[in-house]
Amino acid sequence: MTTTPTPSVLTELAARLLVPVVVLQDARDAALLADALVAGGLPVAEVTFRTPAAPEAIRIMAERGDVLVGAGTVLTVAQVDQAVAAGARYVVSPGTSRAVVERCLEHGVAALPGAVTATEVQAALELGLDTVKFFPAGTSGGAAAIKALAAPFGGVAFVPTGGIGPSTLGEYLALRAVVAVGGSWMVPAERVAAGDRSGLVDIISAAVATARAARPPAA
Ligand code: 3PG
Repeated sequence: MTTTPTPSVLTELAARLLVPVVVLQDARDAALLADALVAGGLPVAEVTFRTPAAPEAIRIMAERGDVLVGAGTVLTVAQVDQAVAAGARYVVSPGTSRAVVERCLEHGVAALPGAVTATEVQAALELGLDTVKFFPAGTSGGAAAIKALAAPFGGVAFVPTGGIGPSTLGEYLALRAVVAVGGSWMVPAERVAAGDRSGLVDIISAAVATARAARPPAA
């Protein structure tokens, strides 16, 4: 029987309320983006394996030591190995793969697999996890669906991602079952590619402020 790995990483993610989903075409942009994330008050990144730049970008961001770097869109065991070798501390997948989760457990890194149905949440629980990515959030029933799932799955924490933006962020963060919200809106690819550090800092800071304002005080 496995246990939930590295809870401190998930606690750290939860404290940030937001998980920027990063798609980098060029790993050379990772340094500027990491710098903007730190300056904007959100030292977190989920660097997706949608581009070949991911492992090198993870390495560049992780080497700084002040950014909580994870890998996103991890579909295979080989990608888990690459992500961990590059310095990723958590691994996010769009769905729940036993092979991917088990490899994360072997490495001792946190796994955050996607789950949007009761069956999928139960599958994640059976793998020893208590936190899932609710993806794609917007088209899977949104905050109302998470609220419904949280009733039977009282101990499960959700990280909704996909189709969320500043206008809907508050609906999710109003739910205690939601520990953080993921999205790419706070790190627009075109700004990153343009090297627009100050524009990125503005957007990231605004996202942090919106998230903090939306979060009800702890009971
Ligand atoms: C992901 O990979 O988590 C999502 O594609 C991010 O979704 P968004 O671009 O709609 O924020």
